[in-house]
Amino acid sequence: MSKITAAITAVNGYVPDYVLTNQELETMVETTDEWITTRTGIKERRILKGKDMGSTEMAVPCVEGLLKKRGISAEEIDMIVYASVTPDMVFPASANILADKIGAKNAFGFDLNAACSGFIYALTTASKFIESGTHKKVLVVGCDKMSSIIDYEDRTTCIIFGDGCGAVLLEPNKEGFGVIDSKLYSDGSGRVHLHQKAGGSMRPPTHETVDRKEHFVYQEGQAVFKFAVTRMADVSAEIMERNQLTSDDVAWLVPHQANKRIIDATARRMGLSDEKVMLNIHKYGNTTNGTIPLCLWEWEDKLNKGDNIILSAFGGGFTWGAVYIKWAYDSSKK
Ligand code: UT7
Repeated sequence: MSKITAAITAVNGYVPDYVLTNQELETMVETTDEWITTRTGIKERRILKGKDMGSTEMAVPCVEGLLKKRGISAEEIDMIVYASVTPDMVFPASANILADKIGAKNAFGFDLNAACSGFIYALTTASKFIESGTHKKVLVVGCDKMSSIIDYEDRTTCIIFGDGCGAVLLEPNKEGFGVIDSKLYSDGSGRVHLHQKAGGSMRPPTHETVDRKEHFVYQEGQAVFKFAVTRMADVSAEIMERNQLTSDDVAWLVPHQANKRIIDATARRMGLSDEKVMLNIHKYGNTTNGTIPLCLWEWEDKLNKGDNIILSAFGGGFTWGAVYIKWAYDSSKK
């Protein structure tokens, strides 16, 4: 019997309507469009506005659109992995909230937190349930409402992040398409450079934690940059080497969109020209778990069956890794 692989059979994305431009940020903090553009590549990002709007507000339309595209009902989904650092609540899991909202009555699910590497961790985890034969239709969602944990008086972080959601459906494949290989890393000592100080069990919320702005993203940008730029490039080269892929063999790099300079360094290391690199950071900024599936969604029409695609990410934790997939369908002909 041929081996079962986990193929992506549908992809969708959702970004909120509100566009926060560099020009608007110039009126909020001491910054310039020129600084943001040259240091990060970002021109604008999307923000989910409104009271009591959690990240699943974006995941619901994203997943409903995905199910429609694939022509299946929510009841056919048997598992949901929700990668996020901004779940609706500390508990229960947003996977459960999403399942309830879309009517995925036959699915079990859980949240996965690996910061900006969450989507590739979730994709790898979910693929094992398909490969083992126990699950047939698994949703992998990457979704973050970063605006809920950003201090819009901190110019070092507020210019970077945005809100957005992307999702893929995994199904069994017997022709060798789908997730072929993945290599994931973590190094918890990196937590000092990128974290949210309060709100967890170590420092529960108090008036003081709020006054000290400890519920926002804390990032030492330069330190994170130094690790990100080498680790993301290294692991991308590593996955190519161990699968005997040359730069000619790789059709696309789908990098986490944290900083255009990090993406450029990764592509250079892999020997890829710009045309093979998915890049939408200028429109959406860093949506944390949303970046990679949002790219796949925007580039879907250009993907062909058999394309070798490398997904690559680095994030808080530290976490990083790369996934090698063989695209399973001719999207433009679907
Ligand atoms: O996705 C999760 C992982 N995260 C990352 O991968 C992020 C990695 N880090 C980065 O992308 C970059 O470090 C940043 C974009 C966050 C910052 O860029 P940088 O080139 O590393 O700038 P810097 O922090 O070294 O700051 C340079 C200068 C400083 O001023 P002085 O000390 O040289 O006078 C900052 O105060 O730029 C200043 N600065 C700003 N100026 C205008 C910092 N933020 C801003 C700003 N506008 N928004």
